[in-house]
Amino acid sequence: MPQHSLDFSIWLPERAQHIESVLEQFLPPASIVPERLHEAMRYAVLGGGKRVRALLVYAAGEASLQPGSETSAQRIALDHAAAAVELIHAYSLVHDDLPCMDDDSLRRGRPTVHVQFDEATAMLAGDALQPLAFELLGMMPIAPALIVQATQLMARSTGSLGMVGGQAIDCDSVGQILVSEQLQQMHRMKTGALLEASVLLGGIVAGAGSATRTGLESYAAAMGLAFQVVDDILDVTSDTVTLGKTAGKDAAENKPTYVSIMGLDGSRQLLQSLRDQAHAALLPLGPSAGRLAGIADYIVGRDR
Ligand code: IPE
Ligand code: IPE
Ligand code: MG
Ligand code: MG
Ligand code: MG
Repeated sequence: MPQHSLDFSIWLPERAQHIESVLEQFLPPASIVPERLHEAMRYAVLGGGKRVRALLVYAAGEASLQPGSETSAQRIALDHAAAAVELIHAYSLVHDDLPCMDDDSLRRGRPTVHVQFDEATAMLAGDALQPLAFELLGMMPIAPALIVQATQLMARSTGSLGMVGGQAIDCDSVGQILVSEQLQQMHRMKTGALLEASVLLGGIVAGAGSATRTGLESYAAAMGLAFQVVDDILDVTSDTVTLGKTAGKDAAENKPTYVSIMGLDGSRQLLQSLRDQAHAALLPLGPSAGRLAGIADYIVGRDR
């Protein structure tokens, strides 16, 4: 059955399962030297995670194509882009959990990579996942000009002006009281940038025109921030078993979060307005953006 005719509640687990098999195929087997490093990379990536970033790539691809017009090359390129964002995300989590950063021992319901293996292996596994992501972008069977755009976008979104810069601000903010503009900048960088890149990569691969890209950008900016606001809320309202990571960690570590600065009610109100912004941005894109609308509701309503 074509993807676009699947109901969202069927599409989501189908895509999550699909990206799992794509990732499993692209990761080096644990039987290849250096085996322990490959084992750690596979442990970090496979068998867990909501796969939100991959879902955004596929949904934005669908929003940017005429139904039924997808070529097999575009389908393959979307798999590469979806895998690339999940690899970068997995690397960021491995490093985020290290003792020198958030010092977490539980991730996706299992011991973190440095606990299961060791710190050096965790650092190197993260290091190796990052170039693998860029290799996959470079191998996309689409026009070279689009590969260049995708690569630049990924590099910029994940470097010191994006994800890694946000993590640096996060480290420097422990014990600080940030004003809401500073908190917003930190969240947009550390988490929003990769989510935004995921949406825009789907658009690039599917050849989105400038009007569609504008809608995608506005949607992505709202959802990128919303995602970390929910993460901050769940750290307070959820529990360790549901989250698969240690609840209550932000307050314990004295991290400034939306909840610590705006309270739970204020954070929830902000979330609703970000969700409304995301939906409004999709209106000009019409029914093909239905999956992106579904993901917005899923992100805001999620319990883990
Ligand atoms: C957790 O991301 C880290 C943040 C950037 C907030 P996710 O909540 O997407 O983690 P997984 O991939 O589902 O485990
Ligand atoms: C993580 O933010 C952001 C990145 C990994 C880039 P958090 O530190 O809040 O994520 P969790 O709560 O550990 O998943
Ligand atoms: Mg962190
Ligand atoms: Mg963390
Ligand atoms: Mg968190």
